[in-house]
Amino acid sequence: MRNFTSVHDIGDLNLALEKAMFVKEHPYADQEIGKNKTLLLIFFNSSLRTRLSTQKAGMNLGMNVIVLDINQGAWKLETERGVIMDGDKPEHILEAIPVMGSYCDIIGVRSFAQFEDKKDDYNEVILNQFIQHSGRPVFSMEAATRHPLQSFADLITIEEYKKKERPKVVLTWAPHPKALPQAVPNSFAEWMNATDYEFVITHPEGYELDEKFVGNAVIEYDKEKAYKGADFIYAKNWAAYQDPNYGKILSTDRSWTVDSEKMALTNNAYFMHCLPVRRNMIVSDEVIEGPQSIVIPEAANRVVSAQVVLKEILKDL
Ligand code: CP
Repeated sequence: MRNFTSVHDIGDLNLALEKAMFVKEHPYADQEIGKNKTLLLIFFNSSLRTRLSTQKAGMNLGMNVIVLDINQGAWKLETERGVIMDGDKPEHILEAIPVMGSYCDIIGVRSFAQFEDKKDDYNEVILNQFIQHSGRPVFSMEAATRHPLQSFADLITIEEYKKKERPKVVLTWAPHPKALPQAVPNSFAEWMNATDYEFVITHPEGYELDEKFVGNAVIEYDKEKAYKGADFIYAKNWAAYQDPNYGKILSTDRSWTVDSEKMALTNNAYFMHCLPVRRNMIVSDEVIEGPQSIVIPEAANRVVSAQVVLKEILKDL
């Protein structure tokens, strides 16, 4: 594997899941593969899980790990070409990227959608600049349109908990006070569409995602109908994707909050969320603390997904 930015880079999904189960059972079996190799993790945005789980995955593989928060201690980066740099950004990303590449063997990048220019966001301008100019393999730690390490961990978790071959998985929009990118729901949809699960997306009108990610999912605007018979409820907020409302909050309707009443409509479904989660906006205390909540094992599987991906990249260095 050279770069990892989406489900399309993981290859055969069943094989990837087998590799995940091996890594889970034998986390330290490949300590030699990363010896004297340096992993550089670049964060343009905050993180708890991605930061810790990816570091842990690198360490499990024997790697040295460097973490850089661009907005805390690094020079502010200009990202546009042609700009007269007489403002508050003393360094251009086109020098910074190859310099960073010269200090490491593999680079992970977190760079969220900015909601300033939909085209820039959906063209993954920052992530692609790293791929183009770093001279190193690059993997996404959540970019503008996808969060593939999260989705891979979600898939591993569903495989571990599912009670039938073809579970009904429901992605539900839920309210949030701030405008959030579509990366997690886009990516989750893309990975679910790569399985043969029954996959349903439910959201208020106006929150339709990019068709490219929705694929063959069933869109059900009636949330109670969507919940019926579900084996997994995956909650996430996202801001509007469709023009002219790109990046806007259209609703904070708390009837979409995942609560015990709606969970009672399901087939005793497990509750999933990528975290961090705002309680009693996205999900009630009862549901997230309840026996069907699997948010902690889901987060723990972030080490596994990152380790599988890093191992595949290391193999091809
Ligand atoms: N789920 C996830 O990516 O969490 P962080 O934003 O804390 O990394």
